[in-house]
This record gives sequence, structure tokens and C-alpha cells, in this order.
Amino acid sequence: MPDLRAPRGTRDLLPSERAVLGHLERVARDLAGRYGYREMETPLFEQVSVFERGIGEITDVVEKELFRLAPRTDEGDVYALRPEATAGIVRAYLQHGLQTLPQPVKVSLLGPMFRHDRPQAGRYRQFWQWDVEAIGDPGPALDAEIVELGARFYRDAGLGDVEILLNSIGDPSCRPAYIEALRAHFRPHADRLPPVERARLETNPLRLLDSKDPRMIELSAAAPSIVDHLCAECAAHFRAVRVHLDELGIAYRLDIRLVRGLDYYTRTTFEFYRRGESGQQQALGGGGRYDGLVQLLGGKPTPGIGFALGLDRVMLALEQAGATPAGGGEPLAVVVGADPAATALRLRIATGLRAEGLAARADLGVRKLGRQLEGAARDGAHFAVIVGDELASGDVQLRDLEAGTQRTVRLDDLARELRRAAASHHHGTAERG
Ligand code: HAM
Repeated sequence: MPDLRAPRGTRDLLPSERAVLGHLERVARDLAGRYGYREMETPLFEQVSVFERGIGEITDVVEKELFRLAPRTDEGDVYALRPEATAGIVRAYLQHGLQTLPQPVKVSLLGPMFRHDRPQAGRYRQFWQWDVEAIGDPGPALDAEIVELGARFYRDAGLGDVEILLNSIGDPSCRPAYIEALRAHFRPHADRLPPVERARLETNPLRLLDSKDPRMIELSAAAPSIVDHLCAECAAHFRAVRVHLDELGIAYRLDIRLVRGLDYYTRTTFEFYRRGESGQQQALGGGGRYDGLVQLLGGKPTPGIGFALGLDRVMLALEQAGATPAGGGEPLAVVVGADPAATALRLRIATGLRAEGLAARADLGVRKLGRQLEGAARDGAHFAVIVGDELASGDVQLRDLEAGTQRTVRLDDLARELRRAAASHHHGTAERG
């Protein structure tokens, strides 16, 4: 076993796994385009205060899981790897004055996030998210659009049976009274709470509701419900979100304990699970409204809503469901030849086919024709182009490796012949579109 290994909690995506991630990225990009969310990028690291002020200092993500970068002596700024995309996107929205564009600004971001969490199945220190945000519209129709978009992603990605959990956590006008009710509920049990939870009873009691500690889960079951404490405006918003979801025929389950792990949320929160699975680690994705975040990061009060879907967990779920899409990457044709030494000739013919947009490989090993043909079949190629003596008169042999048939074609016509043959074999995936 080599002594150099990928860091704990990270994984290499070998080509067959990267192909699955590529499939998910294509599904996400296609949906983002259709729904009008334009792709953008932010740096993989930001000033720590973007996350401290945005996500909240008293959250697992900032307190325990932030990958802080050692400060360089020559610079004052302290940076951390991004644990999520929303805070950075809102920072960019403010920095580039996107408030002056027609609102809402709808964006999509695909990429790796970093959290220094205890690694386990489905929980990594580097993981991929598809994030979408719509900034500048108070909803509630937009809330429904976003939830429906998330649900459609799973379906289009090949994962059926994904359930939507929905809640509202109110806003600064109704949440304080609820938080007091929550404190009153937990306080008599303070002595028996685990240390982290006991501290949070004072600092951030909402977080007690999604604690993973078994004792807490039991206590939370009897806790007062936020939905009973919503102010008139938040209650009306929540009702309207539900009406819009009903109108779209989107089924969901209300879950009053869905408070989410980041501080910026207001009103609508939601998470996606495979049916029958729940609990923090298994969420396939989640999001919500964050009407206070723009202001937290220094802008004027501006509403926003978005989600992030965990692509690693979708990959795992597809694998468990036996629904991993075919790897792809097989060449349509491999150019082989009777003269083992004629590698330049084979390479030149393959290069010509590639220039025509076809997925072609040349056998560049100096070995007998039989071995070259074996290699072509092992690669999953549909056709072998066999270069022999007839090349003198401008001809090559085109062998259909699946049908076992072979015919002579003009080298000049090879690309057109291959394209036609590929189409009639429905071999479209091997051809670049
Ligand atoms: P989040 O719930 O922290 O929300 O993460 C969203 C999803 O990312 C999770 O449901 C999960 O699928 C995946 N995920 C999170 N941590 C890990 C991990 N350590 N390993 C693997 N997958 C993970 C956010 O990040 C918010 N920014 C979502 C949002 C966007 N809210 C509004 N806009």
C-alpha cells in the first residue's frame, strides 16, 4: 500500500465515477437553463467573515467545520474554504451591485464545498453541491418554483421516490417569542442535556431541534411547534407557498423540526430525502428563504431563497438503487493495422476522424493485428477500421465488431460511413454532439 493517500474525508473520482458526476452536472445545467438560473462561480475560499456573518457564528458549520487557512504573515485577511455557496454568492451580489439588475437575480453554481466534519458514508470533507439562488423576490410563488425545481432534478437524474419535507421558521418578528417558548420547554431538562446542547439552550435554542443526540430527539418530539407561533405575515406566506405547491401537484410532508443548520434562514425551509430515510446525514439537499442575509452582509434589506443539492449523496443513492447511468467514454471506432510498426499512419487516420467530430482511437501499440482487434473489443468500440494493403488504392476495411461483419470503404468516405453506421446502430453517445 503506498504511503501517500487522499486526505481523510475526501475521495478521488475515478473516470467511471466522474462520469456519473458529469451526468448530474448536465442534468443540473439543463434544468438551470430551462428555469432561467444563470451559472456563475465564486472563489473556493473567502474571507472568514463572509461565513461568520452570513451563516452565523453559533452554527456547526462555522464553529466546528470551517477549513480555516493559515494566515500569511504578509496579509491581514483570514480566509476559509467555502463550506457552502450561498454566503459567497450574496457577497458577490453586493460587491458587483447586482441589486441594480432586474430582480430577482437567479443564479446557479456547481462545485466543491469543504467542511471539516467527521467523515462517514455520505459525509465528506470535500463534497459537490448544485446550488441555486434567487435574490430579490419575496415569494411565495418563487418558493414553490424553487422547491419544484429541486424535486425535478432528482427525477431527471434518475432517482425516484424522493420526498420533500417542508416547514416555516418565521422571521425576526415572530421567532423570538417562539425561541422563548422553546427555552421554556428545554430548560427543566438542562441538567440532562449534552454539554453542546446545554450551551445552545442559551445561545441558539433553535438548533436543539435538529440535534443528532438521541436524548434530544426524544425531548424535541414534545417541543412546541413553530407553525403555531408564526406571525400573521409569516403564516400567510407559508399558506401561499403550500397553495402554490398544491397547484403544481407537488406532494410534501410538513416537518416542524426542520430548522436547518445555518442561521440565515427565514420563513420557508425544505429538505429532500429518499423516502423512508431521514436524519441530518441523509438529506439529499435542502434550502430555504433567507430574507435577512443580504442585510447581514452589508446590503439593503433584500429577500432571497435557494437550495443546495448534495451531489455525492445523489451519486450514492443512484448506486444503491442500481440506477447509475452507463459510463460512456467508449470510442466509436479504433484504427488498427496489419503493419504493427505503422503507428503514425493509424494515428493520422484517427486524428482525421476526431477532427470530423467522431470518438476515435488509434491502436498505438506495436503489436500484431489480432491483438489490436482484441484491444478494440475490450475498449467497447463498435467498429474497427483495419488499415492494410488496400490503402494503396485508397481503401480500408470497416469491421462492425458487434455484428461481426466487414466491408471495404474509401478512406475519403470513412468519417461519413462511420457516422451513418453509428446512427443506424443508435450509437449516438459515442459521437460528440
Ligand atoms: P446544507 O443543508 O448545509 O445547505 O447542504 C445542502 C446539502 O449538501 C445537504 O443536504 C447534503 O446533501 C449536502 N452536504 C452537506 N454537507 C455535506 C457533507 N459533509 N458531505 C456530503 N454532502 C454534504 C446549504 O449548504 C445551503 N447553502 C443551501 C441553501 C442555498 N440555502 C439557501 N440557498
